[in-house]
Amino acid sequence: MALMTGKKVAIFGIANKRSIAWGIAQALHREGARLALNFQNERMEEPVRKLAADLPQDTWLGPCDVTVPGDIERYFERLGAEFGPLDGLVHSIAFARREELGGDFVDTSWDGYQLAQQVSAWSLIGLCRGALPLMAGRNASVICLSYYGAEKVVPNYNVMGVAKASLEANTRYLASDLGPKGVRVNAISAGPIKTLSAMGVADFNSILDTMAQKAPLRRNVDQADVGNAAMFLLSPLARGITGQTIYVDAGYSIMGV
Ligand SMILES: NC(=O)c1ccc[n+]([C@@H]2O[C@H](COP(=O)([O-])OP(=O)(O)OC[C@H]3O[C@@H](n4cnc5c(N)ncnc54)[C@H](O)[C@@H]3O)[C@@H](O)[C@H]2O)c1
Repeated sequence: MALMTGKKVAIFGIANKRSIAWGIAQALHREGARLALNFQNERMEEPVRKLAADLPQDTWLGPCDVTVPGDIERYFERLGAEFGPLDGLVHSIAFARREELGGDFVDTSWDGYQLAQQVSAWSLIGLCRGALPLMAGRNASVICLSYYGAEKVVPNYNVMGVAKASLEANTRYLASDLGPKGVRVNAISAGPIKTLSAMGVADFNSILDTMAQKAPLRRNVDQADVGNAAMFLLSPLARGITGQTIYVDAGYSIMGV
């Protein structure tokens, strides 16, 4: 039997076929999970619908922009009525304005700082709160996507590095809060991957090159590497793991010099 047979997972953050969330969706689908997806706004509905057509027909889709008041609550209310309880939740969303992802960190604006925190870190709390009534009592698992810039300075990552530090701390606090309710919460710290969001970081290609040269495995990771690790953390095989940040980075983060 496949690892996720009979499990239902909601995935937030598919924009296109390069999205890390799409790699996760494919791994979960392969292992038998039934999926619910979101699209951020009307403009993104069609591309997400087209991708969802590659999944079974009973894949559920609904709108949710985490900055729109009431969107998270509306999403889970409809999901509960039309899709039923949840065994897993994937948070694969982040945003910072392009002008905050380059130049001097000292120039970070309050608006830009708040927006990056709201979309990229606070939203994990909002989504967990919204999903909790659907996850309670099911040994459910939540994952989110972080990056090494949370703990070390990565050129141009700037305000997003601070948001990822918050996201990793949120992971620990939520794991402590939700553990007694049977819900696990973990983060994956993924190596750099060329996606729509990543291309917003100034000089991203040089981050990719450095990683491929210095990582013990001498390569970059891809969406399938992250998708498989995410599937493991969402599956019952990881039932003893919570509150952790797991690296899927070809080993880059262990290197000193
Ligand atoms: N690509 C990388 O190098 C890399 C490395 C480590 C971690 N990550 C993280 O992986 C996650 C997915 O990013 P990706 O690289 O696949 O890029 P992506 O652009 O494909 O996905 C980002 C997603 O965030 C969603 N999003 C942005 N603002 C939103 C909002 N207000 N409400 C709802 N959704 C919103 C977008 O719709 C999009 O689907 C992010 O958390 C990112 O920081 C990426």
